[in-house]
Amino acid sequence: MYNLLKGKKGIIFGALNNMSLAWKVAERAYEEGAEIVLTNTPISLRFGDIEELAKKCNTIVIPADATSIEDLENLIDKAMEYFGGKFDFILHSVAMSMNVRKGKSYDNLNYNYLNKTLDISAISFHKVLQVAKKKDAINDWGSVLALSYVAAQRTLYGYNDMADAKAMLESIARSFGYIYGREKKIRVNTISQSPTLTTAGSGVKGIDGLLDFTERMSPLGNATADEFADFCITLFSDLTRKVTMQNLFHDGGFSSMGMSLRAMTMYNQALDNPKEPDGFDI
Ligand SMILES: NC(=O)c1ccc[n+]([C@@H]2O[C@H](COP(=O)([O-])OP(=O)(O)OC[C@H]3O[C@@H](n4cnc5c(N)ncnc54)[C@H](O)[C@@H]3O)[C@@H](O)[C@H]2O)c1
Repeated sequence: MYNLLKGKKGIIFGALNNMSLAWKVAERAYEEGAEIVLTNTPISLRFGDIEELAKKCNTIVIPADATSIEDLENLIDKAMEYFGGKFDFILHSVAMSMNVRKGKSYDNLNYNYLNKTLDISAISFHKVLQVAKKKDAINDWGSVLALSYVAAQRTLYGYNDMADAKAMLESIARSFGYIYGREKKIRVNTISQSPTLTTAGSGVKGIDGLLDFTERMSPLGNATADEFADFCITLFSDLTRKVTMQNLFHDGGFSSMGMSLRAMTMYNQALDNPKEPDGFDI
């Protein structure tokens, strides 16, 4: 405990259950002295455990669908009422793809689903920023973070249309970060996190194999949810005031690796004993 967020206030989107990345951030932010407000969709409030987290963090939950401007306006108004004024940080930890859920492959996308994926997983970030800015809700030198994944830069088996959403999300952080920084000294960044076993993470095709691959391929190993929360705290704190418009990899080095000695050895051994995998698709 460092009291890094003493006196700071913020809204945390996306805590569904105690596996959620946002859940860990809420716990850590509270521990570090922040006052927080939690939010998630009305349906997730029914199926998830967010009330338990609210109790732990001595706070309230304000339901909001992050794609609805009306809900976001209500959320920001209510949060400002609760805080007694402006606040300092926002965590956007929101994503969903119906194409992934329904097993639609990337060369057979349902375009209504694709629109939903982009709206929920990327455009909602713009909506949150735009509503907050119009309401002048964030204090100068505040910090806004969203969660991304390396599939925005590199193709990974099974990540599907969520890769397009993450590319857009990172672009929104840069474009809005310029305006919000120039006008209000507010920083906007994305963190590109290692694969992590959460409810959303489990939806990714082949997540277990992927977790094992990235664990072995990253010199520092995968970043855990708790480590993710620690990193977020630094970015909400005053220690990172000039970091903005960045996509920050929090992945044990995975994104900079090409080939490791161990993987090369395994690859060479496998070449001597080739076997086609079952169910080979996109
Ligand atoms: N788990 C991973 O491997 C991993 C890796 C990198 C990035 N991420 C990103 O982390 C973020 C959080 O995911 P998680 O892994 O903690 O899983 P999670 O399932 O716990 O969280 C996803 C959250 O999004 C919320 N959500 C869905 N639709 C919404 C909407 N319309 N409005 C508001 N909220 C909505 C869900 O209720 C849920 O709380 C996502 O952006 C995800 O893409 C996850």
